[in-house]
Amino acid sequence: MPDLYDELTVGAWTLPNRIVLAPLTRSRADENGVHGDLAVEYYSQRAGAGLIITEGTQPSAVGQGYSNTPGLHSPEQVEGWRRIADAVHAKGGRIVAQLMHAGRVSHPDNKHGLGAVAPSALAAPGEMFTVQGGMQPHPVPRALELAEIPGVVEEYVQAARNAIEAGLDGVEVHAANGYLIHQFLAPGSNQRTDEYGGSPENRARFAIEVTRAVAEAIGADRVGIRMSPAHNIQGCTEDDPADVEATYAALTQAIAPLSLAYVSVLSADPRSETVLRIRKDFGGPFIINTGFGDVTTRESAQALLDDDLGDAVAVGRAYIANPDLPQRWATGAELNEPDPDTFYTPGAKGYTDYPTLAG
Ligand SMILES: Cc1cc2nc3c(=O)[nH]c(=O)nc-3n(C[C@H](O)[C@H](O)[C@H](O)COP(=O)(O)O)c2cc1C
Repeated sequence: MPDLYDELTVGAWTLPNRIVLAPLTRSRADENGVHGDLAVEYYSQRAGAGLIITEGTQPSAVGQGYSNTPGLHSPEQVEGWRRIADAVHAKGGRIVAQLMHAGRVSHPDNKHGLGAVAPSALAAPGEMFTVQGGMQPHPVPRALELAEIPGVVEEYVQAARNAIEAGLDGVEVHAANGYLIHQFLAPGSNQRTDEYGGSPENRARFAIEVTRAVAEAIGADRVGIRMSPAHNIQGCTEDDPADVEATYAALTQAIAPLSLAYVSVLSADPRSETVLRIRKDFGGPFIINTGFGDVTTRESAQALLDDDLGDAVAVGRAYIANPDLPQRWATGAELNEPDPDTFYTPGAKGYTDYPTLAG
C-alpha cells in the first residue's frame, strides 16, 4: 500500500505527497469576496500539501452563504486569487478552487441583501452567523424555476473559467455538506416534481450537469468533485440506505466516463458499501476524509491508505493549526493544536500565526 509520502498522479498534476489540504471556510475575504495579503500568506504557508483545495468559493453573488467568503465572479476576486495562485506556485504547490454555491444555507445579510435559491422552498434548519445581526434563522429560499437551472450551471462554468484565468490549477465541484448541489441530491431538501426531483436519477441530474459542463469548459483533468453521502447535514437528510446507494451510483456512473481528476468523499464510515461503490464506479484517484471525529493524525491518515480506502487523504483541522503539516508528520515533530474559536474570525490570529518548525 502507498505511503503518505509517495507521489500520486491526479488529473493534470503530479502530487509529491498524498496529504491534501481539505477545503476549509475561514471567512477572511473582504465584504466583496476579495482575498488580500492575509490569504496569500495562508495558502502559501501550506504549499507543501500534495494538493491544496481552497475554501468554498461562491460562483455567483447569490451563491454566497457565509460572511466574508471569497468569490470567483468579479474581476477583483480573480485578481485576489491570481496572487494566491502565484504565491503557491512560487513555492512549488498546486491549488484548486472549491466551487461552493450555498443555496439555502445563506442569509441576505451576508450577501448584500440577495435572497436564497434552492431546489425547493424549504428552509434549512437552524441559524447562521451574520455580521450585522448575529445568529439568525435560515430564511425560506425561493425554489429555482426549471428555466433558471441552465443559468445556475453556467455560473459554475464561468467561475471555473475564472479560476483558470486566475492561474489556479483547477476546481472542485462542491456536491457535499448540505450546499446547493447536495440540496438537489438529498430527498430531505428536494421536493421537486420535475426532472430534477423525485427519483435518484432526477436528483443527481443537477450535480451531473454542473460537473459535465465545468469539465467541458476547463478540461476534465482539472476538475474534481466532493461528495458526502448520507452525511445528513443542514437538513439534507438521506436516511434511506437503498436510496443513497442508488443516488450516488447514478451520479458516479454518469461522471465516470468524463475522466475527472478525482473524486473526494467525506464520510464518517469510509468502509460503507456506498463509499466503496463510489470509488469502484469512479475508478480514478480517490481522496478520502473521515469527517468531524478526532483530528486527523499521521497514523489515522496512513491507516486509510493501508486499508486501501483512498489514494490520498484530505486533512482539515490539523492543517489549520500546522502550516507545515507534511514536514511535521514526516519528522514526528510536535503539533500545534487547532483553536476552533478562531476558525471563522477576522484577521491573522488563528489563520496565519500558527508557528512553523522553521519559526
Ligand atoms: C473551519 C472549517 C471549515 C470548513 N469548510 C469547508 C468548506 O468550505 N468546504 C468543504 O467541503 N468542507 C469544509 N469543511 C470540512 C473539512 O473539509 C473536513 O472535511 C473536516 O474538517 C474533517 O476533516 P478533519 O477531521 O481532518 O478536520 C470545513 C471544516 C472546518 C473545521
